[in-house]
Amino acid sequence: MKEKHTVEIIKNKKIAKNTFKMIILAPLVASEAKAGQFLNVFCKRGDLLLPRPISICEIDIKLNTVTLVYAVVGKGTAEFAKMLSGEQIDIMGPLGNGFYIDETNNNHLIIGGGIGVAPLLELVKNLKGNKTVYLGFNTEPYLIDEFNRYADEIRITVENKIETGDGSLETGDGSLSESKDGTEKESLGTVFFGSDNNSGMSQKVPSPMTLKGNVMDLIKENTPKADMIYACGPKPMLEAINGWAEEKEIEAQFSMEERMACGIGACLVCTCKIKKDEDREWQNYRVCKDGPVFYRDEVMWE
Ligand SMILES: Cc1cc2nc3c(=O)[nH]c(=O)nc-3n(C[C@H](O)[C@H](O)[C@H](O)COP(=O)(O)OP(=O)(O)OC[C@H]3O[C@@H](n4cnc5c(N)ncnc54)[C@H](O)[C@@H]3O)c2cc1C
Ligand code: FES
Repeated sequence: MKEKHTVEIIKNKKIAKNTFKMIILAPLVASEAKAGQFLNVFCKRGDLLLPRPISICEIDIKLNTVTLVYAVVGKGTAEFAKMLSGEQIDIMGPLGNGFYIDETNNNHLIIGGGIGVAPLLELVKNLKGNKTVYLGFNTEPYLIDEFNRYADEIRITVENKIETGDGSLETGDGSLSESKDGTEKESLGTVFFGSDNNSGMSQKVPSPMTLKGNVMDLIKENTPKADMIYACGPKPMLEAINGWAEEKEIEAQFSMEERMACGIGACLVCTCKIKKDEDREWQNYRVCKDGPVFYRDEVMWE
């Protein structure tokens, strides 16, 4: 729905440092939206005129709800974080094109970095076949239980450890830690969760690896099998995945992020260079309307 409309906030709670999960009652969006699309979310403050683009994280068609997960980075998202259940909020969407799901692909590799993990949850839910999920976080992981419900295998990595008083290192929530000399303490910097799909139970199993680092390190360490990669996260991460996918000749889709104003293709603020056809020149495309998801060989990496 391209018109701005008002919906009710069912829940809005903190799930990690500076990170919130908002569930809205939005039957029209829930019935139309697909994984990878986003909503324009409007602020109440009169001076914050531009809507904030936020990806659809999860859809519940039965309950008519849509979940958004957002990081507080500026004035708009700070306002969202203060909103309470029962309050109303203005939205527009679903906007943009979501991920393309090819039913002939059996092995899916889903890679998220930071807040880029959010739009991947609904995707993992919808994909059929073997789903391997690699998630990279800055200091504190989130949405792991939710991903674990739908994925066959999850590996997570927490990049920045926080210095502690005794010289050891630990992550923001203290759940993963290593000692000063680099040997692991109780758990490792990278944790593997394997789902037991037959019983519906999930097991938490420490990974046999002592790898610390980002999702690219995870990929290189494990060389996962994939027919298609779906990735969302910071540009340097996408660029690195692009290089790896090219080398391994694996098709990939990237959800791109650009600063936006209108979110509906009218202002050209979000243009980036895309080559839709081998024979054609690089052209300007609007991330909001032509994307935000693009195929690997369509995107120009500058
Ligand atoms: C397609 C798309 C999907 C996104 N999905 C999510 C998500 O699921 N969760 C999440 O936390 N963030 C997401 N973002 C980023 C989110 O839009 C910005 O973090 C947010 O707009 C910042 O608003 P602010 O007022 O708090 O920050 P400010 O810096 O005060 O914002 C100032 C202006 O710049 C714009 N802006 C700032 N950062 C970005 C950005 N990274 N991308 C686009 N516009 C920006 C704002 O919309 C606003 O108009 C997404 C961005 C895009 C383009
Ligand atoms: S944000 Fe206006 S054209 Fe994309």
